[in-house]
Amino acid sequence: IKKDHVEFFNDEGTKINKKVLELSSDEEKYDKGDYKHFMAKEIEEQPTTLKNGIKEYVDNTNNDINIYNFPWKANEISSIILIGCGTAYHSCLMAKYWFEQLTTLDVSVDIASEFRYRKNRFKKETLYVFVSQSGETADTYAALDLCKKNGMKTCSVVNVIESSIARDSEFVLPIHCGTEIGVASTKAFLGQILILYILCLKLGLLRKDLKKDVFGQKLKDLRELPKLVEQTLLIDNKIQTISNTFNEAKGSMFLGRGFSYPIALEGALKLKELSYIHAEGYPAGEMKHGPLALIEEGMPVVVLAPRDNYYKKTISNMQEVIARGAKVLLITNKSKDEVVSENIWETLEVESTNADLLPFLLTIPLQKLAYYSALKKGFDIDKPRNLAKSVTVE
Ligand code: M6R
Repeated sequence: IKKDHVEFFNDEGTKINKKVLELSSDEEKYDKGDYKHFMAKEIEEQPTTLKNGIKEYVDNTNNDINIYNFPWKANEISSIILIGCGTAYHSCLMAKYWFEQLTTLDVSVDIASEFRYRKNRFKKETLYVFVSQSGETADTYAALDLCKKNGMKTCSVVNVIESSIARDSEFVLPIHCGTEIGVASTKAFLGQILILYILCLKLGLLRKDLKKDVFGQKLKDLRELPKLVEQTLLIDNKIQTISNTFNEAKGSMFLGRGFSYPIALEGALKLKELSYIHAEGYPAGEMKHGPLALIEEGMPVVVLAPRDNYYKKTISNMQEVIARGAKVLLITNKSKDEVVSENIWETLEVESTNADLLPFLLTIPLQKLAYYSALKKGFDIDKPRNLAKSVTVE
């Protein structure tokens, strides 16, 4: 893609790329302070990185969102396609739920490695959004390049603003969360979903899908988010103990519905990439269509059931897995109403906020669960096996 992204081969003939080689110098350049690992530092600094992101885009004086020099008028866009890989793909999926809920735009998501080889129906009135922490992911870049060659509107959501994806897209929305060293993406995930949420609110307002007062209330709640993340980060000791059970298991499942489904996928990805434990993210309502067969006595299952519109349905799916012997870790948000269900193994409660923002808070215990599982197993947390921070080869 770029001249400095050449491929190297090690003595065994395995392909390694230059970014992998550069990681060690980044580690020397950045300080993890008192933390054992960059990942721990990156999890803990999320209140600050979110605050920075909000400061960059939210105009407190006028109660508005500033996205300067956006090259298109709101009425020139009728649909949006969000594209990324791995965690960035999960951010896209998260945003799909928000865009559908808060705007009248048609919205779809795609995995970059699939999008780039499919027979796409390119449409002038579609905005193509590319999400990438590094801005160098080969598949995401190729998808962007394809859109550009077809004359499409392209926008990227990146962390590294000097990257190829940022350079070659028509419009860039930086996530402002600072360098992320840990291969497992944490603060960049919250940064990506923050900026996508902000874009969604702004387009919703411009298209008159969102009333000014609703928009104002959502901004007010958003400003409170860093504080709630900070409080949620305090759930710690319990997760350390809980992680033992995951480490002893053959496999695990992460379930959620609606806004919580992309977070279930992200939780499962974090656990598998760091602890090498088989973890499957699934929409809770899909269990009885096959995966329920996997549940056996003592299998750890994370159920994300915040008090939103899906709550009752998710609790009922949770009871189905408990009845088959699963050890359920329920993650919900604080509420005056008790959870009415028997035989829940463990419950964790995140802070409460409006339903749009609960996904941010639900992510925190899942990041910590993956971190502690890997820590106890003694694995290389910042550089899990077989993975690179930036996947610049196909
Ligand atoms: O740099 P990008 O956001 O484009 O990277 C995409 C994926 O490779 C990345 O999110 C990967 O899935 C992470 N290791 C997940 O923690």
